Amino acid sequence: MAYIQMKSIVASEGHPGLVLSLTLRMEAGLPMKRRRASATWSPTSVLAGRDTTSSALTWFFWLVSGQPDVEDRIAREIRAVRASSGSTDAAAFSFDELREMHYLHAAITEAMRLYPPVAMDSHCCQNDDVLPDGTFVGKGWQVTYSAYAMARLEELWGADCEEFRPERWLDEDGVFRPESPFKYPVFHGGPRMCLGKEMAYIQMKSIAACVFERFSFRFVGGEGRPGLVFSVTLRMEGGLPMRVKKRRDSVC
Ligand code: HEM
Repeated sequence: MAYIQMKSIVASEGHPGLVLSLTLRMEAGLPMKRRRASATWSPTSVLAGRDTTSSALTWFFWLVSGQPDVEDRIAREIRAVRASSGSTDAAAFSFDELREMHYLHAAITEAMRLYPPVAMDSHCCQNDDVLPDGTFVGKGWQVTYSAYAMARLEELWGADCEEFRPERWLDEDGVFRPESPFKYPVFHGGPRMCLGKEMAYIQMKSIAACVFERFSFRFVGGEGRPGLVFSVTLRMEGGLPMRVKKRRDSVC
């Protein structure tokens, strides 16, 4: 059963290398717990590429729709990048153009801080160990952390931790300033960190930039925050109904 589920994930998400090695182990009947590679394996590793970017973008579009000033700033940045590179808005954005979009990068990062696609992550301890704060973790124990809860800790993010504030990621020159993955574990941290992080940012930034270059969005799904659905990825209850308007300053 597990084997079939894995294979269907490979087929739909296209991570042949990763899942191939897992399916080979399972087909060969190798005990997952005894092998080095599988000892640190967690189901989340396989599922992390699945629906994570769509989860991130859903919450990002909802957060931005509630703060028109953020949307305007994103649109202004896109126009400025187009102007400085001389490309037309019919063309897809190049890697260099996307790299220049610091505010958009910050806004997506901030949205994932508040609504991490992998809201909770669990790992099984291979050997007795001690966490940096002195907490003992025994062999075979399961350790779970919640990136969702960590985003709401004042001691980590300050009194405004619950606010959507892209500026917290920018230095005084407006350049994106990353945080330690152990404070911002949205892509996990350490040796098993997400391998698709850069690709995920490219996907999310190019989609967001293409869309905000032309359109403006208002959430029409009611007042208050949509419900959270804690599945493997953090989903939004009831989808994301939006009113879409062409931007007045869009030239296409
Ligand atoms: C916003 C998007 C994404 C988020 C938030 C995310 C998050 C994560 C997290 C939290 C893990 C660690 C899972 C664990 O505990 O073992 C992970 C692992 C992984 N992710 Fe992503 N991911 C994203 C997108 C992607 C994409 C697009 C790909 C592939 C193109 C990808 C490929 C992987 C792989 C291969 C691993 C396993 C790494 C390892 O165990 O060595 N991820 N991701």
